[in-house]
Amino acid sequence: MDPRSEVLLRQAELFNGKTLLAGLPADELLTKLPQATGWTWLANDWQMLNHHYNQRIHLATTAPTTKFQTTVLFLPKSKELTEYLLQALAACTELQGSLYLVGEKKAGIERAAKQLATYGKTRKLDSARHCQLWQVQINESTTAPKLQDFAQSYTVNDLTITSFAGVFSHGHLDVGSQLLIQHLDKIPTDKILDFGCGAGVIGALLKQRYPQATVYLQDVDVFAIASTEQTLKNNNLEAITITGDGIDASPKGLTAIITNPPFHQGIQTNYQTTEQLLHYAIDHLVKGGELRLVANSFLKYQPLIQQAFGNCQVLAESNGFKIYSAYKV
Ligand SMILES: C[S@@+](CC[C@H](N)C(=O)[O-])C[C@H]1O[C@@H](n2cnc3c(N)ncnc32)[C@H](O)[C@@H]1O
Repeated sequence: MDPRSEVLLRQAELFNGKTLLAGLPADELLTKLPQATGWTWLANDWQMLNHHYNQRIHLATTAPTTKFQTTVLFLPKSKELTEYLLQALAACTELQGSLYLVGEKKAGIERAAKQLATYGKTRKLDSARHCQLWQVQINESTTAPKLQDFAQSYTVNDLTITSFAGVFSHGHLDVGSQLLIQHLDKIPTDKILDFGCGAGVIGALLKQRYPQATVYLQDVDVFAIASTEQTLKNNNLEAITITGDGIDASPKGLTAIITNPPFHQGIQTNYQTTEQLLHYAIDHLVKGGELRLVANSFLKYQPLIQQAFGNCQVLAESNGFKIYSAYKV
């Protein structure tokens, strides 16, 4: 079980009423807290949790519309996303109910506890398993935050790219993505997928450059998909968005998969996502279809791509990143 869940269960009686667990890990916590509902924004966690706790998991950028006696935020990585989620949870906590914050010390729980103090006097209830549990009582009614108030935008090739809180490279173009967008020429068009689309910068540029192509943009995170939809709308571009986990959830019959795939040091699942992508992308491409991606030069992707496709070329290298290309022959 996730250590943060273990910390909650040390005082399980606090969560026996109508409880909302936001950003919960995909573990068995809901078995131990039968009155609790989960709120997640990640399709992979939703899939795993929904399998066991059907009807008890909410996948969205906004909280469920009902009120809860108790709400809990599992601290996310981004400070802006924490701000948005705390506002959302405060608004759906009953008056005199409690809003809790749980997270690992290394994830910055002490800093986040200061954000919680916006809602009243905070109390540290527990510190164990390298985690802390904080609480505040909600004494004032507030309204749910607007996601638009947590948006940041930037411009690339006359396109306005909008990202919401917590989305990769929030408010600016990533260095790897910058290299990739300089190498979007001669892509086999017809059906192109931007895998792990984030705010949609690559997919939007592909649609701008190849207007006849059907462009799909896929991400596991509903905040990323909401950002992508905003980016497409900003620029009057039509494309298909997919909320889904990994290459398994991607369409088949593609002529190209273009990606800056997920990579975060220390987070095992993201290595798995990219390794699965490199291995199975070929099954989603038509003959002559291409996988083109950018990655940190130190990542040993070339042998994996070579193994899956029987070919792999380095198209460019700059600033510690490489562009790889492989064709389905
Ligand atoms: C390196 S970022 C690239 C984002 C965007 N394409 C860009 O260039 O700014 C990788 C993206 O992959 C998404 N991702 C992570 N795991 C995923 C999965 N299992 N399935 C689909 N997308 C995933 C992340 O949410 C993130 O938006």
